[in-house]
Amino acid sequence: MSNQFKAILLLNVLFFICGCHTKTRNKEDAFINNLLSRMTIDEKIGQMNQVSWGDWNDLARKGQIGSALNLTDPVALKEMQRCAVEESRLGIPVLVSRDVVHGYKTMQPIPLGQAATFNPELIEKGARMAAIEATSAGIRWTFAPMVDISRDARWGRIAESFGEDPYLSAILGSAMVKGFQGDSLNDPTSMAACVKHFAGYGAAEGGRDYNSTLIPQNELMNVYLVPFDAARKAGVATVMCAFSDNDGIPCTANKFLLQDILRDEWKFDGFVVSDWASIAEMVIHGFASDSKEAAMKALHAGVNMEMVSGTYLSNLKALLEEGKVSISQIDDAVRNILRVKYRLGLFENPYFVTNKDVFYAQNHLDIARKLAEQSAILLKNTGQILPLDSNTIQSIAVVGPMADAPYEQMGTWSFDGEKEQTITPLTAIRDYIGNKANVIYEPCLAYSRDKDPKGIIQAVSKVKQADVIVAFVGEEAILSGEAHSMADLNLKGAQTDLIEELKLTGKPVVMIVMAGRPLVIEKELNDVNAAIYMFHPGTMGGPAIADLLFGKAVPSGKTPVTFPKMVGQIPIYYNHKMTGRPATRKEILLDSIPIEAGQTSLGCTSFYLDAGFDPLFPFGFGLSYTTFEYGTPELNMPVFGKQDILKASCTLRNTGDYEATETVQLYIRDLVGSLSRPVKELKGFQRIFLKPGQEKTVVFELPIDNLAFWNAEGKNVVENGDFQLWISTDSSIGNPIHFKVED
Ligand code: NOJ
Repeated sequence: MSNQFKAILLLNVLFFICGCHTKTRNKEDAFINNLLSRMTIDEKIGQMNQVSWGDWNDLARKGQIGSALNLTDPVALKEMQRCAVEESRLGIPVLVSRDVVHGYKTMQPIPLGQAATFNPELIEKGARMAAIEATSAGIRWTFAPMVDISRDARWGRIAESFGEDPYLSAILGSAMVKGFQGDSLNDPTSMAACVKHFAGYGAAEGGRDYNSTLIPQNELMNVYLVPFDAARKAGVATVMCAFSDNDGIPCTANKFLLQDILRDEWKFDGFVVSDWASIAEMVIHGFASDSKEAAMKALHAGVNMEMVSGTYLSNLKALLEEGKVSISQIDDAVRNILRVKYRLGLFENPYFVTNKDVFYAQNHLDIARKLAEQSAILLKNTGQILPLDSNTIQSIAVVGPMADAPYEQMGTWSFDGEKEQTITPLTAIRDYIGNKANVIYEPCLAYSRDKDPKGIIQAVSKVKQADVIVAFVGEEAILSGEAHSMADLNLKGAQTDLIEELKLTGKPVVMIVMAGRPLVIEKELNDVNAAIYMFHPGTMGGPAIADLLFGKAVPSGKTPVTFPKMVGQIPIYYNHKMTGRPATRKEILLDSIPIEAGQTSLGCTSFYLDAGFDPLFPFGFGLSYTTFEYGTPELNMPVFGKQDILKASCTLRNTGDYEATETVQLYIRDLVGSLSRPVKELKGFQRIFLKPGQEKTVVFELPIDNLAFWNAEGKNVVENGDFQLWISTDSSIGNPIHFKVED
């Protein structure tokens, strides 16, 4: 085929696709506009109202529910929908919603755990299976993914995030959107996703939930908005605004975010929902004098649907009559809502088919197990004590409050998961070992906050009999998530004492932490021989950990967030700025300061006298049972133009004894900018599987365009200059190579 012919063919195909797309859009617009033209003002305002309680059927008949939240009884749900579709004047279906965050029945690891997998394909599959389960219960809209950048482990909602990195959050958030929404929203197993919380909520001052944020424009554009933009590009159907205020403006009334960025710049055509009562709460913020003014400000800014507080329902009509809001603002909001309902196919197919067979289906359990396995981060493995040899071990002590806590291991946002279906580590270890060895089980503490040492004292003599002790510690599910912030991140209750006592037995101790956030565990790490960290791993956490302990699987998780040594280091994150006086690591720390030392003798750099500079574990860290050797990175050329594609490659060799997967990470640094730039930025990652002795060349392709940032002039551009590039196993190590970008 000649090139000319190929080009003509391609053009025709493109015209055909564009033509079909335009036709679909025309049909969609015609349907929505026709419906809108027949709606009364009350019916329009009804669409903008999301309800969580009340007389559902009556509200549905009157056309006063745009969306129902948390109605889960399938019979009641169907009846409410019937009332909306068959008994309301225009028969507009209700959009049924719920927080399906990391699974519906089959609980996957919490999002922070999923982020540790660095595996977007698997996360997409996980979201797909969550959608299949939830839609079979009638839920067509979920409030996920949460892509709030989280640099503060005190914030309980770090559990729901993908961690601290904008690039990782962008990739994983988009994968989740694709999984929830499937190939087409119209598929009855697809759910509309909702990217949240727009924007900056994770920067809550002091890590206290709902707190104010102070994010300057540059940081907002270059860090906090990055994953939202990616979710939008992935086709996310809805956006939720944040509770918080940034620099005094509640996100619920932030026109810059909701209009200028989201609509004008990004051309988002789905709808925006408020957070729970966040419109009414603008009165409490001191940003509106009453709920009427709050409703006006939210509508002006661009909030299309109100979650539960009813200020739209009670005030919009009067505001319209008084000329304080316009009919076009209301029409735009309703159009956006109807568009999503139309795309979901709700007008043609408002009902759902209950199918309980998909709950805990074998392939769902398999995906949940893989996610849990890949989310586990090996933090320490002195003397290669792991994996344990199930053929030679005679007896194993399984201890700690998280060893057999089926409810707790599901983590936050597990409304619909059932603890009866959850497999705990204790059960899985017993299953794995069968009668090959003796399993001694001693919880020692009844729950993670238990301070009573009685159980520990009683258990010690028994666990001493074992060849190895595996201690499951961490946090109960309720200690992280919304409104569960924490000022102290040490292990709660008597768990530190437990680890200390186990050490005193002289037996090898393996510590498994299951928690909703990175905890401060330096002391405990020193007391144990090996440690694995799992953010609450969900229904299949037990089998996953048993596979890892006994070497049927090899850990491959990496920290999606920096682990602090002390809570006072927070906020701590790898992609910070250099400052004019960066730490040298040669600073004199607290215990080495001479008495009556001179004022300037300690090194005038940016560090803590007691904690130094470095974290406990950097972003991207995670060991394996095998070892990997990285070659020196190479570039396809030393100088790039703005349209070029950088190709960076490096050899990776498995130099150990286990076949395993390594997450290879690509970082860059823009050395000099019109704004000072982060010391490192993740720009790519790949999970590479290698057999012992096997070597591969890992190649990253990075369009130079991806080095763009919002610069001092407020433009999203790549600035000319010198850059550094690393290909490495985590964010803290590796030797950089240089390249240049020129016009
Ligand atoms: C409040 C939370 O902030 C939000 O994330 C959630 O989706 C809604 N409640 C609905 O439950």
